[in-house]
Amino acid sequence: MSKTEQVTEMYKKYVMNTYAQKRVMVKGKGSKVWDIDGGVYLDFVAGISVLNVGHSHPKVVAAIKTQVEKLTHCSNLYFNESQPKLAQKLSELSMNGKCFFCNSGAEANEGLIKLARLWGHDAGKYHVITMKSSFHGRTLATAAATGQTKIQKGFEPMPEGFSYAEFNDLESVKAQITDKTAAILVEAVQGEGGIIPATKEFMTGIRKLCDEKKLLMLCDEVQCGMGRTGKWFGFQNYGIEPDAFSLAKGLGSGYPIGAVVASPKLSDIFKPGNHASTFGGTPLACEAALATIAVIEEEKLCEAAGRSGELFKEGLEAMIETYEHVKEVRGMGMMLGVVLDAPAKEVVDIMAGMGLLALATAENVIRFLPPLNVKDNEIEEALDIMDDAMAQWHGIEKEESAE
Ligand SMILES: Cc1ncc(COP(=O)(O)O)c(C=O)c1O
Repeated sequence: MSKTEQVTEMYKKYVMNTYAQKRVMVKGKGSKVWDIDGGVYLDFVAGISVLNVGHSHPKVVAAIKTQVEKLTHCSNLYFNESQPKLAQKLSELSMNGKCFFCNSGAEANEGLIKLARLWGHDAGKYHVITMKSSFHGRTLATAAATGQTKIQKGFEPMPEGFSYAEFNDLESVKAQITDKTAAILVEAVQGEGGIIPATKEFMTGIRKLCDEKKLLMLCDEVQCGMGRTGKWFGFQNYGIEPDAFSLAKGLGSGYPIGAVVASPKLSDIFKPGNHASTFGGTPLACEAALATIAVIEEEKLCEAAGRSGELFKEGLEAMIETYEHVKEVRGMGMMLGVVLDAPAKEVVDIMAGMGLLALATAENVIRFLPPLNVKDNEIEEALDIMDDAMAQWHGIEKEESAE
């Protein structure tokens, strides 16, 4: 039995079967990851947009090591020194308001929803309009906020207070507004939905609509935040600011942390007793996040995401000409999707077998979320692997290179 088979057996016996894994990963460095039987991969999944600074960045590792020996946790019954530093940083990078810390994306979105409900409570406003094909998490409220019935199936009745509009269709959003509407929640780039960027008209239109109708504009930055789209936060590509947004994934480079980041208007809505989290904003989580932000700043990774994204996108677009099942390349920065006219899973499996990790999303989209500091030669290598995988999948015999 291989080591992979041994671990697989243990999973089967002891871990609830909610995923469909194949590989056992044991080590990561930069843009590479190794499996337990010695396989090495270019990791263009990056923990689903978690490892924006790459695996085990030395500065993040050092920050965690230092803090773990000093103070890991003391509960929010007491202040810690790291939490306000992180809140200050996130506020300065965005809307100069205040933050609440939690542990995951779903929890950050729950925080946004609760914030919107508390804000609208006395006026009887608690409905949140979200978008079809959005993704906001797997807790009951965030699954209800998610505009995909497959996420909700079997868990009905879902919590009340959500309605769904067509993404990138302002009229459809307008049609959902009632006197109970408190907020509109949107991703600047839908990730799980298949890497679909919002249009400029849509994002600026929602902002205007929220101002006119006195609603809150909320952005889910869990997947598209932390430099991934070429700006710190996805909404910054549109020249607008929401009233609050959620963060998680790339914030802690793999150390779990989520955040609700509010504008001044929403910064003092929560009062003691309204909302809390045992693990939210521990010194350890905040130091991991502070180190992550420092790396993104020092290595200019927002700019790098824009530049590398262009390079990668060009290479991917070239495949539209060569391969008949490749229809479109879309996305922003280092959040790119290759749209096929067939299910993407098969070709994603072939690529993994050849040493390139990507995700199959929304049935027919290959989703790439590489570390933002991936090297140009690694992008070239990924494109070569993808080309080989595409040729195999299309049943095309590739000519041997003359070199
Ligand atoms: C946009 C978005 N929001 C929320 C979530 C949920 O985050 P978590 O899995 O950390 O709860 C995800 C996860 O994929 C996401 O992509």
